[in-house]
This record gives sequence, structure tokens and C-alpha cells, in this order.
Amino acid sequence: TVGGVEFAVADLGEAEFGRKEIRLAEHEMPGLMALRREYAEAYPLRGARISGSLHMTVQTAVLIETLTALGAEVRWASCNIFSTQDHAAAAVVVGPHGTPEEPRGVPVFAWKGETLEEYWWCTERMLTWDGEGPNMILDDGGDATLLVHKGTEYEKAGVVPAPEADDPDEWKVVLELLRRSLAERPGKWTKIGEGVLGVTEETTTGVLRLYQLAAQGQLLFPAINVNDSVTKSKFDNRYGIRHSLIDGINRGTDVLMAGKTAVVCGYGDVGKGAAESLRGQGARVVVTEIDPICALQAQMDGYQVKRLETVLPEADIVITTTGNKDVVMVEHMARMKHQTIVGNIGHFDNELDMAGLARYPGIRRITIKPQVDEWTFPDGHSIIVLSEGRLLNLGNATGHPSFVMSNSFSNQVIAQIELFTRNAEYDREVYRLPKKLDEKVARIHVEALGGELTKLTKDQAEYIDVDVEGPFKSDHYRY
Ligand code: NAI
Repeated sequence: TVGGVEFAVADLGEAEFGRKEIRLAEHEMPGLMALRREYAEAYPLRGARISGSLHMTVQTAVLIETLTALGAEVRWASCNIFSTQDHAAAAVVVGPHGTPEEPRGVPVFAWKGETLEEYWWCTERMLTWDGEGPNMILDDGGDATLLVHKGTEYEKAGVVPAPEADDPDEWKVVLELLRRSLAERPGKWTKIGEGVLGVTEETTTGVLRLYQLAAQGQLLFPAINVNDSVTKSKFDNRYGIRHSLIDGINRGTDVLMAGKTAVVCGYGDVGKGAAESLRGQGARVVVTEIDPICALQAQMDGYQVKRLETVLPEADIVITTTGNKDVVMVEHMARMKHQTIVGNIGHFDNELDMAGLARYPGIRRITIKPQVDEWTFPDGHSIIVLSEGRLLNLGNATGHPSFVMSNSFSNQVIAQIELFTRNAEYDREVYRLPKKLDEKVARIHVEALGGELTKLTKDQAEYIDVDVEGPFKSDHYRY
């Protein structure tokens, strides 16, 4: 704690650089800046204590400072061990009006290159307020929500289960953290869970977890699925990835992609952006899919659809985008060409069999530089794994650019206002924002890019059965 602000970041000396990049990003985030103007006098988030778990980047800094401009108190951690931009974290702690000697910003617990123990420590610190706990959670991938739910569940049972031998290392760390907190502060997580009015969730994987909790009747508070706002998943997941996937591959390896064969596993929103990104560099792209609809989309877009086993002998680059587990196994890696680049851009690292790779008999690992490892098999061939299997666009590069994140984060801010100010109208279910607000977010960004929207006449509006002011589509429309 310095100057009253609690924090754990790499170096407050980087704050000035962070502040300069935040200033540039603000201009590229017209949605967030419009919300700051719209609510300049109303402070709809006054009284909100938001615990946020989301990649601590420059763009997230603009989100955090929008939440505080609207009246919220905020504590923050990153939702990935490699995704923090240390200068952004420092600038948020220092704040626009503070100095490194006298920070006046927001408590942040995040640095690039955390261990798993440090990561969960940061998540716990972010959820632990002096006095009253958080009353709102802003989550990306659901780790903050998971900690509160599992903590509450085990406190109710009075015991934290012992880890199983084949549990993933990360789960063992979570169990150890909860075991310690049950011993030292019994009731901690139950109290936090009872105080939270709601969560707004950023990504596909976190949303899946929320729907599972709701289906089992275990969701402790209402949730807004931000991911499935059209102006989130159809933009960030797709066009954001189109930008940041090749950024990560370039910064990690600087290998020419043109003329190479790239395999994209999964052709959902992220896969569509990934395939386009690689094709844009001149790579030949082959897609793997389980879902015939997405597979057919890939074919219509001009990509071959094959099984991974079929295409492995040709692959130079393999990227997973499925949000599923065990997609590329060590047996696949053992059969790859020399120096095939392997990376994941889905939320969790279990898309790649990193545990199997580390255990493979005779395997050798050489770190080329942070977040780039060469793994050499006993037969002499090697593969290059980016970000240890964690989302490579944030591990090897700086994630999505500001303009696309302005869309996502505008939805986040609107969802926080909605759940905080009209909480009584929400049950312990998962909701989406109304289409009207989705269209509002889009309109701001269309205009910021100099676009001109055509206005419906009253007569036309009646003919297609919509209001002149929107919403312009029914809820079942798919874009
Ligand atoms: P999605 O559900 O639209 O797409 C996933 C696709 O993978 C689906 O079409 C599914 O049929 C396919 N799939 C599932 N298992 C498969 C398998 N074994 N082999 C081949 N295909 C398989 O989900 P979306 O929105 O594309 O997100 C994917 C992941 O990316 C999620 O984990 C999400 O949280 C994450 N994400 C990461 C971002 C980043 O910046 N790195 C940004 C946005 C989302």
C-alpha cells in the first residue's frame, strides 16, 4: 500500500508510458467515452464496489477508468497469467492525477508472468475488500465467479476436498487456496457471495460456466452474458482475433506465414477471425470442426475441412479456437513437422495437451524467449509452443485493439449499470442485454468511423414491421 492505494504490479515507474498509451486508446474507444459523457452528472455506479477479473491491458485501463468515472469503486486482477501489460497496470494504480510516489488510482493485482499460485493470490486479493466485500463482479472466463461459488460450496460442506492425483495443477492450487481460507477465515466466501448483486461475463467460456451453474440451480446471483451481445461476439471474437492472432505469431516467431499450411481448430466466431487472419498473410488454411454447420460455413468461405490427423503431415501452424479441451494432444505433436508452430487462442490452455507434452518420455524444452518454447522430441524434431498454451494473442502480443474492445467494454459498462441499478428485476439466471442497447453501441462506433446510417421512413418501417428508431431485427435474427 502506497498513498492509501493497495496494489501488486511490476513497476509503478512504467505509469507514465501507460498513461500516454491510455490517452491514445481513449480516442479509439468512442463507446466508452460516450458513456462517460452520457453519465457525467448521474454517476449511476455510485455505491458499486466492482471486483474485476479481466486481462489488465491498456484497453482495460480505459474500461476501469470509465467505471470509476461513473461513480464505482474498483479492484482489479488479470484473468490470465501472461496477459497483463505492466505499464497499463502501473498507470491504473497511479491514476490520472497521482504520481508513482503518491498513487491515487485503483488497486490492481496483476503483472505479466505470474505463477499459478500468484495468479490465484491476485484473484483473491481483488475479491477481498477492506470492510464490506464487492457488490458487483466483472468477469472474463469466470475465475472470480468460480472462486466465490466453490468457496461458498465448500464452506457449506465444512470441508475442501483433497485434490485427486490426476487433477490439473491449477485446480490443485485453487483447492489449496480455499483450504487455507476455510482454516483462517471460515465464512469468507459465503459472505462475499451474499453481498454480490450480480456478475457481467465477458467471454464464451465464462458464459458456458454460468449457464451450467444456472441449470443446476447453483447460481448465487444474477448474471449478464455480455459475450452474446452481437456487438461483442460478432466483433471482438472475430475481428479482434483477425487482428491479434497474427500479431501474436509475428511477435513470437517472426516466421513468414505466406505459402504455409495453417490449421485452425474450430470455426466459431474466433475460428472465423483466425482463419481470415492467416489467409490474409497468404497461408493456406485448413479448418477442423465437429459441427457440420460451422464446417459448411468454412467450406463456403473457401477453406478445406479435414480432421487434424489427416492434415498433420502438412501443417506448419496449428491454432486452437474451440473453447473445448484436449483438442491437440501430445500424440499429434509427436507427429508434427519440424518447427511446427502450435498455439491456442481459446480461453483456457487445456485445448492443448501441455501436461502430456511435459511428461512425454525424452522430451526437452528450450525457452527461446518469454512465452516462446521449443519442445524437442527424442526423434530430433521440435515444435514451437506459444505462451505455454495460453491465449497467444494476449501472451505473445497485446490482445485486441482498442476500437473493437470499445464495443465489448461498452456492453460491459451498460450491463454493470443495468444489474446494479435495477437489481430487483433480475433473478439468479443468465440474461442478455436488450437489442436496443446492442444497436446503441453499434451506432456510436458506426458514426465514429464516419459511417452514415440510412433512416427508415415511417412507411418502410411499417412494411418490415419494426419501429423507425429500432430495434431493427427480431431476437432470432443471426447476423
Ligand atoms: P464458438 O462456440 O463460437 O466456437 C467454438 C467452435 O469450436 C464451435 O464451432 C465448435 O463446434 C468448435 N469445436 C468444439 N470442439 C471442437 C473440437 N474438438 N474440434 C474442432 N472444433 C471444435 O466460441 P468462440 O466465441 O469462437 O470462442 C472460442 C474460445 O475463444 C472460447 O474459449 C472463448 O472464451 C475464447 N475467446 C478468446 C478470445 C481471445 O482474445 N483470445 C476472444 C474471444 C473469445
